[in-house]
Amino acid sequence: MKLPQLEDLPSPSGKRVLVRADFNVPIKDGVIQDDMRIRAALPTLTWLQEQGATVTACTHLGRPKGVADPKYSVEPVRKALAELAPGVALLENLRFDPGEETDDHAFVDRLCEGQDLYVNDAFGSSHRAHASIVGPPARLPSAAGRLLAQEVDILDRMLHDHRKPFVAVLGGAKVSDKLGVIHTLLEKIERLIVGGAMAFTFLLAEGHDVGDSLVEHDWVERCRALLDEAGGRIVLPEDITAVGPNEEVRQAGVDLRAGWKGLDIGPGSAAAFSDVIADARTLFWNGPMGVFEDPRFEAGTRTIAQAVADCRGFTIVGGGDSASALKQFGLEGEVDHVSTGGGASLEFIELGDLPGLEALRKASNAPG
Ligand code: 3PG
Ligand code: MG
Repeated sequence: MKLPQLEDLPSPSGKRVLVRADFNVPIKDGVIQDDMRIRAALPTLTWLQEQGATVTACTHLGRPKGVADPKYSVEPVRKALAELAPGVALLENLRFDPGEETDDHAFVDRLCEGQDLYVNDAFGSSHRAHASIVGPPARLPSAAGRLLAQEVDILDRMLHDHRKPFVAVLGGAKVSDKLGVIHTLLEKIERLIVGGAMAFTFLLAEGHDVGDSLVEHDWVERCRALLDEAGGRIVLPEDITAVGPNEEVRQAGVDLRAGWKGLDIGPGSAAAFSDVIADARTLFWNGPMGVFEDPRFEAGTRTIAQAVADCRGFTIVGGGDSASALKQFGLEGEVDHVSTGGGASLEFIELGDLPGLEALRKASNAPG
């Protein structure tokens, strides 16, 4: 069944519309560090206003755990929104209410009270079965906003209608978060590049000494099984930038001595990864290659970001840290699609669906 689009709503003219957005933006000392998620919702907000609707947006911000903690107030977002989309109201942080994360029905009722229509444009939150995501479509005529529809469309085509070679680049700290997505990707990709701290669990599975690097011992067996399943398609680092006793930083091979901790891929790995990326006709990147916030360990992520930017295939960067890395290196305009959802894009790739999408497809106005 197809997702209901804005055009599948009864005419929004003169109606009150609740829009669930993902305005979970980085804020430091009250200042928004990156407003990409706010700008990304503008096409939906303006379309609704142009149709004559009264628009109320809502979002979570951070993880306040069901209490009204002023540290997580949406006020900075409200100010930004007032400039970008004048006339759009914004509710206070949804997660100030414990009913949001537990999908409490009374909370959904309160959210929907006085509203005629519901639009979900929160791609980055649609993997959460929370009240504001899964509740309203059972009560109000509902639709996917432009951003949500576009994100799903791009990932759907990446998975089911892509040009080969299809290469995925995964990084970040934990392999346990990504085993599911790796398993699904192995059915689709020609090559899977693994960097970041998660590479150490794979290297350990291959029998290397990883020194004091971060590893998840419980997952070594699973990594070994994935390596077998991949039959040589998983590309691991061949050298490492590591920090030793007394904060000494060195390039090393993939075998590290005790006392040494790998914090970035080495230059040889970065070059080898870049060669694989250059040949890709479809490329998905999620997760940094090292601790790129620290200039001593940014080189690997920078080289990979540049390779992704230079790749002539269709390039998709999956949210979160890899999107910030692109921004840090001034390359965010150089890829075809930067997703507004990190966790959401991984879950969509892994499972092919999200709770928020399922809920929309069950709305009373959804196309049969
Ligand atoms: C995100 O930034 O990952 C989304 O907004 C979801 O937030 P959450 O991980 O706190 O649910
Ligand atoms: Mg998250």
